[in-house]
Amino acid sequence: MKTFPKNFLWGSATSAPQSEGHSSQNGKSATTWDYWFQTNPEKFHENQGPENTSNIYEMYKKDCQRMKEIGLNSFRTSISWARLLPDGKHVNQEAVTFYRDYFEHILAEGVQPIINLFHFDMPMWLMEKGGWESRESVDAFAFYARTAFELFGDLIDQWTTFNEPIVHIECGYLNGAHYPAIHDFKKAVQVGYHTLMAHVYAVQAFREVKPKGNIGIILNITPAYARSAEQADQKAKENADLLTMKSFLDLAVKGAIPEALVQLIKGHELTPETNPSDKEVMKENTVDFIGLNYYQPLRVQAPENPRFPAQDPEDLYAPYDWPEKRINPYRGWEIYPKAIYDVAMMMKNEYDNFPWYVSENGMGVANEERFMDEQGMIQDDYRIDFMKEHLDYLYQGIQEGSNCFGYHTWTFIDCWSWLNGYRNRYGFYRLELDNNFERHLKKSGLWYKEVAQNNGY
Ligand code: BG6
Repeated sequence: MKTFPKNFLWGSATSAPQSEGHSSQNGKSATTWDYWFQTNPEKFHENQGPENTSNIYEMYKKDCQRMKEIGLNSFRTSISWARLLPDGKHVNQEAVTFYRDYFEHILAEGVQPIINLFHFDMPMWLMEKGGWESRESVDAFAFYARTAFELFGDLIDQWTTFNEPIVHIECGYLNGAHYPAIHDFKKAVQVGYHTLMAHVYAVQAFREVKPKGNIGIILNITPAYARSAEQADQKAKENADLLTMKSFLDLAVKGAIPEALVQLIKGHELTPETNPSDKEVMKENTVDFIGLNYYQPLRVQAPENPRFPAQDPEDLYAPYDWPEKRINPYRGWEIYPKAIYDVAMMMKNEYDNFPWYVSENGMGVANEERFMDEQGMIQDDYRIDFMKEHLDYLYQGIQEGSNCFGYHTWTFIDCWSWLNGYRNRYGFYRLELDNNFERHLKKSGLWYKEVAQNNGY
């Protein structure tokens, strides 16, 4: 029996845009996702857009009971910025009523909510002014954060600012998977910098409004492993870690952007515009905890013909195809559970054993109806095996002293996945798209319930 620490969080995560539905209703204004689907629906798997998603907006009362049914003691979702402040300035009362009732129902089931503020859902009114490219976004986000803390701070004690900030930077400004889908390394760095500053100003607002709560940030961790011990490959690993991991992690925990990253960016003429007072604000506004989403590692090697100055991160670290990799064929992501142990040790040794939790881990699988038994239950043993393998390594890290306080899966009920629509399913509950969004428990939900109840397995 592997028993986890006392009060360990067993839960799941989702986000507002992926689960609420009612995307153009109840006073919510458009986000970049609504706009992109309207203008380019063909980009989305089977034309599945953001409008309906899992309809938690109408079904949350029963869904909160479902959380309890499978033993979750904690749950993360986000607030939709465009729903709460449709024009960025004025509060939508209908959104306040919805979120308050939703959060009260989560609490009533004895589940601890962790509420996030931004999960890739940029309001369109702000995107029209440049989105994260513009410094105005920093103030706009800080205002939104303060408003949310004031409106819901009496109910919610655990908050996070961003989910996976590296993703909206990479996908929006380098690889085309998020709107505005442009390729411009310099803009990507500026967007990254404004996101960093939006985070620290939100933390500053939090300290003023809610001195007793906890605030953190959710980062996607893709620990870099180099092809070899050769110096050039090791340099590629160092560059990858600086850009994809230490950028936000050091800022959040240590209150500063690593000097090596500042120099790397400067050397490639990518330095963003900053304000003189920024460094001080960073230093004063570190977080209370870190959430790390882990899905896959990053295999790197030295780039063969790097351009100078770099036009793309691939000029600083090139992808390496590790011959021994194990792949989740549906998502194309490597499965490498040991990285969770390496991350646990990194948090212990390089971040002074800072408190952290696994804020997402999971396996997306297509056409899961293949695995439905006669009673209508999806027999997703592959998902149970995936979680077990990761938990084994997490347990080892905790045994060796890493300060990890929880494990959240992605996700609770199958949800909408951006351009992938409903192709890959991750949930403990299957969502029936053509049957009024009915939810059906999968085998993994039963397994997780036992784990949560026993605080181990
Ligand atoms: C995480 C995100 O990166 O992974 C989620 O926080 C996302 O929003 C999840 O849905 C799974 O990835 P995908 O692309 O398969 O939906």
